[in-house]
Amino acid sequence: MSHVPQQAPDGGLRHLLSLDGLPASVLHDLLDRAQVLLPDAHAGTALRGRRAGRTMCTLFFETSTRTRSSFQLAATRLGMDVLNFDVGSSSTRKGESALDTLRTLEAMGVDVFVVRHADDGAVAQLAAGAAPGTHLINAGDGRASHPTQGLLDMLTLRQRKGRDFSRLTVLIAGDLKHSRVARSDLHALRALGCGEIRVCGPANLLPGEEVLRGCRVFGDFDQAIAGVDAAIMLRLQRERMDEGLVPSMEGYYRDFGLSPERLALAAPDALVMHPGPMNRGVEIDGAVADGPQSVVLAQVANGVAVRMAVMDALLAG
Ligand code: NCD
Repeated sequence: MSHVPQQAPDGGLRHLLSLDGLPASVLHDLLDRAQVLLPDAHAGTALRGRRAGRTMCTLFFETSTRTRSSFQLAATRLGMDVLNFDVGSSSTRKGESALDTLRTLEAMGVDVFVVRHADDGAVAQLAAGAAPGTHLINAGDGRASHPTQGLLDMLTLRQRKGRDFSRLTVLIAGDLKHSRVARSDLHALRALGCGEIRVCGPANLLPGEEVLRGCRVFGDFDQAIAGVDAAIMLRLQRERMDEGLVPSMEGYYRDFGLSPERLALAAPDALVMHPGPMNRGVEIDGAVADGPQSVVLAQVANGVAVRMAVMDALLAG
């Protein structure tokens, strides 16, 4: 969404709308900030003075479990006031536009809006109408972008595999077509100079060439996973699908599910990642999701620190 500058002329972040176009230095700075905050991110009280007096509002036009709760906790742990705007019971039901809703809450003194929306580009559009001092964070817009998920995935990789992404082969597998997580991961992996990026999924669940720029594309999962350092598994997004894209869940698991046998083809210390929510027995076997190579819950834990870091950076800038 390059028409809304998310960086100020001095390079500081004003909004976080997409990872697309952010250089490695900005990504590493955010990850460094998250890593510094991490020890206290879960302690509860240590950082409560850090952004006291500032207000964060979640504005979710789509459902969420992890993202919304972790933003709430992240803001609370920075000492911020937290407002959870309930779209379902609000005047948006009476036809008030998202921008009028945002301006109304802005007038109440909200500094940071965390917004999820079903439409691609919706958060950038809101950012274009926001007052100069207001910061927007994209918590997922349509299929386009989910930048904090991309960052927490990179933090999880960096913690376990080091800062040098050029040595890594990373696979993103499953329903890439409908996945904003995949797009943000691809933006980040490219910017960080990942050695080899592989993607794998049924042909009708892969996005266009522009999204897959620079990736090795596989139709065969056994070949795709051979020797990889990490496999990022994606949820089959049945709610976003037209009927008939996937003939059967059993068939999908057989061809594209991460089973223990398939995981054995990856590097011995390969990481298993998944943004959640998982469909056990569809894209991932339950035993793999809970197994020793799975970092799924570490991703969730890193999510709180990353969201603290992003809000902290926006408010510092
Ligand atoms: C994802 C989302 O909503 O984009 N979940 C998440 O934020 N961790 C992925 C999904 O819904 O499959």
